[in-house]
Amino acid sequence: MRRPVEFFRHCLGPAEVESVTKTLGSIFITLGPRVGDFEAAFAALLGVEHVVGLASCSMSLVLALRALGIGPGDEVITTPMTFVATPNAALQVGARPVFADIDPRSGLIDPEQVEAAITPRTRAIVAVGLYGQLADHRALRTIADRHRLRLIDDAAHSIEATADGIRTAALPDATAFSFYATKNLTCGDGGALAVHDPELCARLKSLRNHGITKDAASRYGQAYRHWDMLELGYKAALNDIQAAILLPQLPHLEVRRARRQALVERYEQELKGHEHIGLVTRRGTSAHHLFTVQVPATIRDDVLAGLGRRQIGCAVNYRAVHTLRYFRDLLGHVPEDFPHAAGFGDRTITLPLFPDLAPDDVSVVVGALDEAVREALAGRPAAGGAAGGTR
Ligand SMILES: Cc1ncc(COP(=O)(O)O)c(C=O)c1O
Repeated sequence: MRRPVEFFRHCLGPAEVESVTKTLGSIFITLGPRVGDFEAAFAALLGVEHVVGLASCSMSLVLALRALGIGPGDEVITTPMTFVATPNAALQVGARPVFADIDPRSGLIDPEQVEAAITPRTRAIVAVGLYGQLADHRALRTIADRHRLRLIDDAAHSIEATADGIRTAALPDATAFSFYATKNLTCGDGGALAVHDPELCARLKSLRNHGITKDAASRYGQAYRHWDMLELGYKAALNDIQAAILLPQLPHLEVRRARRQALVERYEQELKGHEHIGLVTRRGTSAHHLFTVQVPATIRDDVLAGLGRRQIGCAVNYRAVHTLRYFRDLLGHVPEDFPHAAGFGDRTITLPLFPDLAPDDVSVVVGALDEAVREALAGRPAAGGAAGGTR
C-alpha cells in the first residue's frame, strides 16, 4: 500500500508565531503599523511604488475596478480559465464580464482573443497569472493602451513570476494578490493591490475603510478630531495580525519557489512521454503555485476518484468559468463559446505541490496517477479510502 500524499501544507512556524505574539502585545491588532511595514516590504520585493493591504484577492479585484472608475454599463474582458473571484469582481461593481479564450498550451488568456472581444463598452482587461505564469503582459499592455483600457492582473498564483524580461506588477495599472491558505504567501486569508499611481493608492486606502478620512492608527494618540466620509467604500483592509504572519515569510519566497520548481521538474521528468498524460507549457519563470496535468476529458473525473481512493490530494483548477451554471444562466454561454478553455478545464487535474513536499512523494503521486489513469481507461475502479483536495 502506497503512503497518502497531502495536497498542500503551509510553511508557517516559530517565526510567524513570534511575530504574531509581538503584535498581540502591542496596541494595534487591526489596520495599524504592521500593515504599513508589510506594504513597504512587499512593494520593495515586487519593485513597485505602492502596495495596499486588503482583506482578500477577491476584494482587491473589486476595489481595483472601483478605484479605476469601472462600473455599470462597462465591460471587463477576462479569461474563463480562472477562479470565479475574477469575473465576480466585474459583477460586484455592476460591470459585465466578457470572456476571451485561452492559449490551449499554457492556459493563459490569448491577447488576440482579447483584442477580438473589445467593444465600445470595454473599459478593462483582467489577466490571470494561471498556476504561477505571467500572461503576455507586454502584448496586453499594448492592446490596453491602443484602446485606452485599464490593465489589471489577478496575480493570486504568480507573485514571483517573470516573463519577457518583466516581473509581476510591472506593467498593469493594478495587480491583485491573494494570501489565502494555500497561496505562496499566506496568512489564512488576506490580499493586496500593487499600483504605481499615488492617487490611485490614496483612493484604495480610502475605499478599504468605508471611504472615511481617517483610519484607527491615524486617530490614535491625537486629540479627538471628527472624520468625514467622502465616498461609499468597503470594510476590506488587511489587519496587523495578518501582516505579522506575512512579514517573516517575505525573505523565504524565492527559496520556496525554487523548491517548488525542483519538485515540478521531477514531476515533469517522471511524466514525460506518458501516452495519456499531458503537461502544460510554461511562459517564462513560473512562480510554480500549482502543478497540473491534462488527461483525456472522458476519464478525468474517474482519475480524480482513483487518486482519492489512493489518498492522493488533488483538485481541479479550474472548470472553465463560462461553463458554470451561474454564468451560463447570466450570460447565455455554451461551452463551445470558448472551446480551448472548456476543453482545458475538462482535462485538468492539480497534483500536490508545496515547498516541504518530499521529493520521493512526487514518485508516489506519479505512480498513483499512472495506476488511476490505467484503471479509468479500463473502466474498473478499485476499493479504498479518500483524500481531500482544495481549490
Ligand atoms: C486565480 C485566483 N483569483 C482570485 C482568487 C481569490 O483569492 P482570495 O481567496 O484571496 O479572495 C483565487 C483564490 O483561490 C485565485 O486562485
